[in-house]
Amino acid sequence: MQPDLANTLKRISAEGRDGFYKGETANLIVAEMQANDGLITHADLENYEVVWREPVQGNYRDYEIWSMPPPSSGGIMLLEMLNMLEPYDPGALGYGSVETLHLMIEAQRRAYADRAEYLGDPDFVDVPVEILTSKEYARHRFSDFDPMAASDSNAIGAGSWPAESPDTTHLSVMDSTGMAVSLTTTLNATYGNRWVIPGTGILMNNEMPDFAAKPAPPAPGSITGAVANAIEPGKRMMSSMAPTIVKKDGQVLLITGSPGGSTIINTVLQVIINVLDHDMGLEQAVMSPRIHHQWQPDSIRAEPGAMSEAVQAALVEMGHGNISISNSQGDANSILVRDGVIEGMADLREDGGVAGF
Ligand code: DON
Repeated sequence: MQPDLANTLKRISAEGRDGFYKGETANLIVAEMQANDGLITHADLENYEVVWREPVQGNYRDYEIWSMPPPSSGGIMLLEMLNMLEPYDPGALGYGSVETLHLMIEAQRRAYADRAEYLGDPDFVDVPVEILTSKEYARHRFSDFDPMAASDSNAIGAGSWPAESPDTTHLSVMDSTGMAVSLTTTLNATYGNRWVIPGTGILMNNEMPDFAAKPAPPAPGSITGAVANAIEPGKRMMSSMAPTIVKKDGQVLLITGSPGGSTIINTVLQVIINVLDHDMGLEQAVMSPRIHHQWQPDSIRAEPGAMSEAVQAALVEMGHGNISISNSQGDANSILVRDGVIEGMADLREDGGVAGF
């Protein structure tokens, strides 16, 4: 029996809000506070207001998820973790398996680090709800997931996001008549040289590093070159851009391309091989982990999951050596046309989207 609680509930039932925040219940709360150096006053209780908030909403595979918004971190973190897990297949990895547990722990570690940094009462702090619950952010946040090794909580910190992709941009377009455009455009670095010609809104590029300033070693993201790409008046610098259209029997099959400096070509190569040779659907072809080798430096860069430890060991045994795990390679926004269906895929490594009109 809980007669005190029953009486409080009766007062709330009879008086509504006032049955708790005013009158007998409030008097009892404040008296107990005063007797024990507590802080809550009658004014605190009278001023308290319940706020109705919109739930957060997302989806996991085919399921809609609705959950609690800030000031709870619950809904946002839940969606962030589900988004991180979605590209994987916990079902196939198996309940309780090392793979599934490792995957879930790594998602939890990252989400809770974000929680500490970004979550709080939205009446006091600007909580980036849309970003934290987006698929793009989850993909970016989980891009350093190593299926073979735990990350270090002390090193991992809170996630961050660019206000806008810093990259070169690739877009693929197809219209209802089958006309196709594959377009990669570059200022080279983020906002080029960050100089806008007043009155034009035009950003100046900083494309000079695309020339071979000296034969070796190459700058990060650039590639060894020599006289053929040396700086000369009037000469255009060498690009790695590879906007590409693949046709079969005269019909457009695949439209693809990517940013990523010197990695661009290898990214495009892998999307094409994934579709043509590995018979992957577009999503898998675009999202499968990528590798990069550019002759010099003589090393392999692989996205997490691109090669198992056994495969890495076998490659080293063959003499390949020096394999490093890269965060993310490229952003191959692509279109695949199969059986008359035009399918678009925005590479989840960066921001971007798919639209049909
Ligand atoms: O044309 C090129 O190869 C370079 N300007 C591309 C630079 C790039 O992709 C940077 N973004 N990731």
